[in-house]
Order: sequence, then structure tokens, then C-alpha cells
Amino acid sequence: MAEKTRTTAVVTEAQLLQQELYSQKVESVISHRYPETPKACVVTYGCQQNVADSEKIKGMLARMGYEFTDKRDEAKLVIFNTCAVREHAEDRVFGNVGRLKTYKQKNPDVIIALCGCMMQQEHIAERIRKSFPYVDLVFGTHVIHRLPELLFRALTGRKRVFEIPDMDGAIAEGLPIRRDSDKKAWLPIMYGCNNFCSYCIVPYVRGRERSRTAEAVVDEFTRLVNDGYKEITLLGQNVNSYGKDLIPQVSFAELLRTLNGIDGDFRIRFMTSHPKDCTRELIETMASCDKVAQHLHLPFQSGSNRILKAMNRHYTRESYMELINYARELMGDELSITSDIIVGFPGETYEDFKETLSLVEEVKATSLFTFIYSPRKGTPAAELDDPVSHDEKTKWFKELTDLQEKISASQMALHAGKTFKCYVYGKGKLGDNYIAARNDGNLIIEFEGDESLIGTFQKLKVIEPLTFVMRGELVKE
Ligand code: 5AD
Ligand code: SF4
Repeated sequence: MAEKTRTTAVVTEAQLLQQELYSQKVESVISHRYPETPKACVVTYGCQQNVADSEKIKGMLARMGYEFTDKRDEAKLVIFNTCAVREHAEDRVFGNVGRLKTYKQKNPDVIIALCGCMMQQEHIAERIRKSFPYVDLVFGTHVIHRLPELLFRALTGRKRVFEIPDMDGAIAEGLPIRRDSDKKAWLPIMYGCNNFCSYCIVPYVRGRERSRTAEAVVDEFTRLVNDGYKEITLLGQNVNSYGKDLIPQVSFAELLRTLNGIDGDFRIRFMTSHPKDCTRELIETMASCDKVAQHLHLPFQSGSNRILKAMNRHYTRESYMELINYARELMGDELSITSDIIVGFPGETYEDFKETLSLVEEVKATSLFTFIYSPRKGTPAAELDDPVSHDEKTKWFKELTDLQEKISASQMALHAGKTFKCYVYGKGKLGDNYIAARNDGNLIIEFEGDESLIGTFQKLKVIEPLTFVMRGELVKE
């Protein structure tokens, strides 16, 4: 018997082989059903983990013989990979599924499929079952690797297919991936979340934390570097608990050091870190590894210790600031901090909110991702009294974004005249001949230059810091 390398479940090779056979069956079915090579339109909502899942969905579809389109009305297969983190994201999906009704009526040979976090919730699947009869296939987050089988059933059976097993989740290695970019890659190192922050739906829809083995991560990473990828972002809901389910355990800092040691010109990014698990070792590793971006996305959610407790976050604003101060001590102004904040958690008072504002002033993040609290069915916070009106929360929200805008501008101003190694990623917005790059800290620098530089690292000097971008110029070496 093979030596045990982990405590969490894996999808076996036999199960994957079975899917490979279904993949061939789908290929045969669609080649008979459609006169031309059918196109699939995969629409992704939500976070980078979903983007990475969609790249696997597209990898499997390509193997089944599908081509791809961004236009829903020329697709023979439309898949929405959905997000459940806030109500607004769910409303958009319902609206967009509603708009597919007439398309499906006119084109009965089209398959409409829904997957992702939203579908993993029973009440949502039930609503789709009852109110959206033209949706052919609904599958949850734990069975993505079974897409060939599920699609085969949807294409050939008479019944609609709903496959939403409630489980802890398993790791499926070796699925084909069709990446959106040939320079920038997402690399999930772990799945799921064990933290149960009281407002958050993710642990319920993504299952328990499970890590890919360090060998699997290093292997995929090395292949990406060899294929010319320049920016590789390691993904996990809480990368700091990476490796706890592996035997022997591997820490995230160790993994970063191993990846940093791989030969080649590339940059490593990662997200997200939870402050309760962010170690000094991780900060020291960031500071000492030359290929690890000096960017820490460390969500603090609220500046009020009372609210942090109600959120089940397991840290205080003081312990959070200790981490930030240590990171700044080691990395100085070069370090870019970003964070997530929730405004209007149930029971939050204006006094609590003012504590968030004061923490925002202390942290001096380069940018913030700010959200108004959205109740999620099944989470403990959704049961709490929530007396503050949405209008009032919207005012607080505006106060927060106004403050951060000033801080972002002053953080940018610190960089005037500095030179950074930047990855040029695309066209700019400051003018026709501008192209855009990101420095280590994920700050955008736009400069006048030739599009042939896209996909390379360049040295750029900051000429004029603006609020959200900086104008710079190319430094000739
Ligand atoms: N309401 C508002 N924002 C939320 N987030 C997670 N759950 C909710 C919710 N119910 C935010 C958190 C998290 C980010 C990804 O989304 O700030 O860090
Ligand atoms: Fe949600 Fe908290 Fe897990 Fe992040 S750490 S996914 S906010 S439960």
C-alpha cells in the first residue's frame, strides 16, 4: 500500500480514468448532434478560486471537443460558475439566468449549466429546480472533476441533472487546465476553509481545508515557469494554514522558500492570509525571498475588537497592528498592504465603525476591498439583530471609501522618483500609447511604450503618482 501522505481525501486515478471515458463519450455525442464544432461560453463570477476552477472546466471541455466563445447567443453550452459570498453576486446570476430563457426556447439543443458556490446551497438549487425549468445541469463545488459524466447525462438523458453532494471535499489532481493568460497564472495550493467567520458562507459551500501536496504544487509551478509564465499567484482561502493536513506537515513559509529557489525570472504572489495564522516566519520569508512579491493581502474586516469577536475572527486590532508593524519594519515602504473590510456587521454601532476608520488610518493600506455586510442564509450572523438601516450603512461606507482614497493617494506619493522592477501586463488607460505594469506591491505604473513589452519585466521610474495609478517612464539599463 502507498505511504499515507495526507489526512484528507483524494479523487482516485480510477475515478479520473472513468471521467476520461465519459469525456470521449461526450465528444462522440456532440460530433453527431451539432453540424459544426460546438462552442462553450463559461462565465465566471466571484473570486480567483472560481477563475481557477473555470480554467479547469474549460480544460475539460476542450478535451471533450468544445471550442470557446464570449457570446452567450452563439454557444451550444452556457456555464455560469457562480459566487455566493454576497447577495448582490447571487442576484446578478439569477438575472442573467433569466435572460437565457428565450435563447433556450429558440435553441432547444443548447445546454444551460450552473455550478460554483451558489449552487452548493440547498435553497438556491431548489429555486433553480422550481423557477428555472430550462436549466439542464446544476452541479456543486465538490464534483467539478465529474463534469464529463454530468454533461453526458445532461446531453443524453431525459431528466435534468442536479448533482450537489454535501461532503467535505477531496483533491483532484491532473485535470486539464485551459488558462486565460499565457503569462499570468493562478495556482490553487489548497481548497476549502475551516474558519467559520460568522458572516461567511465559504466554509459551508467549499468544504474543509485540504492542501495539495508540496510535490504537486512544485511540479505545476515548475511547468508554468518553463512555459514562460511570469506572475504566478498561489491561491487559498487561508494560505497560512497550508500543509496542516499533509503528512509530514509543510508550512506555507517552507513552500514559498522552495518555490523561490526554482530557477527563472518570475514573481510569486499569494492570497489570502488570515491574521490569526499569519506568522512572523511568513513575514521574514517574504522579506528574504527575492521572487516573492512584497505584497500582503491581510483582511482585518473591522477595527472594533467587540465586532471582531462577534465575527469569530480570533485576533484583535492590536495583534493585527503588531503584524503590520513587523512587516513594515522588515520591508519598509516597498511593502504594499491591502485588506478587506465589512461595513455594517449586525449590531455594529457608529462607535464601532469609527474604530474601523481609525484602524484604516493606522494601517495605511495601498488599497482596500470594502463591502457592506450581506446576510448569508445558514451563517450565525444572519440570525443576529441588525438594527442599522441600509441607508445608514451606505453613508458609513462612503465615509470609509473617502478616507481610503486620501490614504491611497498619500501612499502613492511616497513613491515619486523611485524605480521599480515591474511586470508589463497590458494596455494602459492614461492615453493611447500608454501601457500598464505592476510593481511588486501590485501598484499600477503606466508609461509610454511599445506593446511588444507586454509580458516582460521592465524597470520603471515613477514620474507622477496619481490616486490609483502612477505615471512612469522606462529606465534604459
Ligand atoms: N457580507 C459582506 N462581505 C463579506 N465577505 C465575506 N462574507 C461577506 C458577507 N456576508 C467579504 C470579506 C471577505 C471578502 C472575500 O468578502 O471581507 O474577506
Ligand atoms: Fe470566509 Fe473567514 Fe474562511 Fe475567509 S477565512 S473564507 S472570510 S470563513
